[in-house]
Amino acid sequence: MSKKYYITTPIYYPSSNFHIGHCYCTVLADIIARYKRLRGYDVFFMTGTDEHGQKIERKAKEANLTPKEYVDRIVEDTKDLWNRLGIKYDKYIRTTDKEHIECVKKIFEILYKKGDIYKAEYEGLYCTPCESFWTESQLVDGKCPDCHRDVELVKEESYFFRLSKYQDRLLKYYEEHPEFLEPLSRKHELINNFFNKGLSDICVSRTTIDWGIEVPFDKKHTIYVWIDALANYISGLGYLSDNDEFMKKYWPADLHLVGKEIFRFHAMIWPALLMALDLPLPKKIYGHGWLVVDGAKISKSFGNYKDPRIYIKETSVDTVRYYLAKEVVFGQDGNFSEELFIQKSNADLSNDLGNLVSRVTAMVEKYNSGVIKNSDEEEDYDNDLINLACKTAKIVEEKMDDLKINEAVSSIMALVSKANKYIDLSTPWILAKDKNKQKRLDKVLYNLVECIRIVSILLQPVMVEVPQKIFEQIGIKDENLKSWDSAKEFGLLKVGTKVTKAANLFPRVEVKKEINNMQEENKKVEEKQENEEKQETKVNEKGYITIDELGKVDLRVAQIINIERVEKADKLYKLTIDLGNETRTIVSGLVPFYKEEELLNKQIVVVANLKPAKLRGIMSEGMLLAAGETDVVKLLVLDNNNGKIENGTKIH
Ligand code: ME8
Ligand code: MG
Repeated sequence: MSKKYYITTPIYYPSSNFHIGHCYCTVLADIIARYKRLRGYDVFFMTGTDEHGQKIERKAKEANLTPKEYVDRIVEDTKDLWNRLGIKYDKYIRTTDKEHIECVKKIFEILYKKGDIYKAEYEGLYCTPCESFWTESQLVDGKCPDCHRDVELVKEESYFFRLSKYQDRLLKYYEEHPEFLEPLSRKHELINNFFNKGLSDICVSRTTIDWGIEVPFDKKHTIYVWIDALANYISGLGYLSDNDEFMKKYWPADLHLVGKEIFRFHAMIWPALLMALDLPLPKKIYGHGWLVVDGAKISKSFGNYKDPRIYIKETSVDTVRYYLAKEVVFGQDGNFSEELFIQKSNADLSNDLGNLVSRVTAMVEKYNSGVIKNSDEEEDYDNDLINLACKTAKIVEEKMDDLKINEAVSSIMALVSKANKYIDLSTPWILAKDKNKQKRLDKVLYNLVECIRIVSILLQPVMVEVPQKIFEQIGIKDENLKSWDSAKEFGLLKVGTKVTKAANLFPRVEVKKEINNMQEENKKVEEKQENEEKQETKVNEKGYITIDELGKVDLRVAQIINIERVEKADKLYKLTIDLGNETRTIVSGLVPFYKEEELLNKQIVVVANLKPAKLRGIMSEGMLLAAGETDVVKLLVLDNNNGKIENGTKIH
């Protein structure tokens, strides 16, 4: 049986404006997941969206949508983006999934019964963008210490989780499991900033937010989004459900990969919750760094929006993935700019990798009619190349297992460089001029193509399109020659294999032109976003209602089947209407405008779900629709042109 590997990304707050920084975590998690699959692990890779909370509630309102309508739209966008980035997840979890909601309610109930959740009064500060509670002393210049935005005062009855109770157990666990929290610097920071002051219990419910999971035994309260969100890692496996097969199979998680600003929730609250539930803790929580532009986190609110779709479109999905994996030191912040992106892409991918493949395949085609040959005409320096080729897979494994992702990629690229140098050393174009050197030429080309095969295998976690293209170009169809372990053996490539030359896999781009191009495209996207936001506010100012709100009004066809005057009321008729499966009474002031016989049997439109009200002692159960108010009043009547419609029919 193969070993399992359960890896997660954070679940993202829904947004249509994911920037290249957002993609970092998901791409890196995908690279690790692909690597583990290639190593034969039974991988479960989960990502998703964190859809509850005040922030979404407000944004939905601004967009004039219900929260669910708002998030549904965005989730499609997100999945599309992940798809473009070649993200191959096994499950996409949404906190609005029924199974998740049920699970969170059960967790809350268990912890309440256990006494780990209790009710008290909360008074403190709340940062809505971060969905975080703060104390006065934690603020920086009166603002949220994480995002530097305004916080709001919250005072309400709340439920609390007894985090303080777990302080010592947490510290002990950190100490006994040095690999649990990484990088180590973040662990130390966490202990210094939070544990040294002593952990306080945390507020885990709100009464002023509707958009969330309700506390099952106290419906006034909704469960704090972070409790809701963290639980995704187990609800997604069916924890506490009828089908917890995956929970048994995959829990504990092997890796929770998260950004550094949310490390503390994962390193502190999450393990404490798991302890309270008597569940084993994840093997590792890793807090990666941010993608930054001139030192500032990429973020729409900082005005440095970078649309990932532009970079994919202008280069390729593999170029973007490669940049994120190689140019950011895993665990630290990494710079991003169009200039860096293009420079690296030109240097590493067009010049080194792309050129290697196109030069070698072109030479095999030109000198050996595209057929792989071999001989025993060796030179000493061949061994340098062969040794490195045989060793590289092992190096990559060590680095990947150690989560030194960028170093793993660099070691593959070191083999690419070596192969390029080998071309310069062996000078195949000179060998080709001399018939006596044909055997040597065969050997040189064999070694080069075999190197390319190995490089292509090792690049598979990082690149999702190029390895397959390379295999096609060098004529490798046998799956055994594409397997991970076959990258550890030099000489598996078969003589007689047919190679076909193709264009450079990574066409070089003109730096200046492309920078301008990308920046302009980003500007356009930003403008578009701003316009959309303006549009949305305009829409609101016009007082539009949503389709959902409209749906609340139950308009139906009804027929007037009886009419009486209301005593002592000049204007009122008491109408009996047929609504299909019921009759009702409606009181209406139509006397000045219609005679009784003009109304009898007419099919009209009524609001069927208007709250009943007493008029002159008569209960009026609905309202009919009419135009005008004083002099002229016209009843909305159905025409009977093409036959009659059934009484009670819903009007859309
Ligand atoms: O925090 N560079 O969601 P989120 C690198 N819903 N990573 C970045 C980044 C940047 N410039 N900007 C954002 C949440 N990210 C919660 C998580 S999990 C139980 C709940 C990363 O949408 C960020 O670090 O704000 C985080 O890991 C991820 O994007 C989602 O952030
Ligand atoms: Mg965030």
